[in-house]
Amino acid sequence: MTLRLRPYQPSDEAAALAANDALLADEFHFLLSWDPAMSWSDFLTALENQRQGRNLTDEQVRAVQLVADVEGEFVGRVSIRFLLNDFLAERGGHVGYAVVPAQRRRGYASEILRQALEILRAEGIERVLVTCDEVNVGSVAVIERCGGVFERIVPALDGGTGIRRYWIGESPR
Ligand SMILES: CC(C)(COP(=O)(O)OP(=O)(O)OC[C@H]1O[C@@H](n2cnc3c(N)ncnc32)[C@H](O)[C@@H]1OP(=O)(O)O)[C@@H](O)C(=O)NCCC(=O)NCCS
Repeated sequence: MTLRLRPYQPSDEAAALAANDALLADEFHFLLSWDPAMSWSDFLTALENQRQGRNLTDEQVRAVQLVADVEGEFVGRVSIRFLLNDFLAERGGHVGYAVVPAQRRRGYASEILRQALEILRAEGIERVLVTCDEVNVGSVAVIERCGGVFERIVPALDGGTGIRRYWIGESPR
């Protein structure tokens, strides 16, 4: 499988917006921190700022948002956080991923998480927190397939189903 995690390019707007529409049925956003009122170039600038940890809002941390590209098709996306704020340390974790409905059950999410772990490792982050909704059987399987060790369940902030916390990588001794 040649799945490549890569930054968005100026020419990606139409494909990225189509992927965003495809994922909305699941109440997930393909594009994170994107607002329909903003231009694509402003969005790319915001992502570059976040990659460099520049002009961050109180809720933001240094992070990258990458598209999962399989031979030019946008099959999924990932958000990789290099620091954890209070929300991420409890519920959000280091990595958030999604695969568009038409491309599921082909191993793409597992490959996205595997490559995200490599990116975090290259930044010196060996112990990675990954979380998912208690009822998200697909995501549970993906995390466990990538070596996730279950820690505990925390309540969701909106009163919904609980959130399962997993750690991947060496625990400190
Ligand atoms: C959860 C999600 C990321 C899985 O993506 P995917 O590319 O289909 O995952 P994979 O193909 O890597 O699946 C790996 C394994 O997970 C399990 N799995 C995946 N989706 C499943 C589902 N809907 N039901 C049961 N098991 C599932 C299977 O065991 C699968 O292996 P198999 O296909 O060989 O049986 C995808 O369904 C999605 O994007 N959902 C909406 C967004 C989301 O939930 N993101 C995760 C937030 S934590």
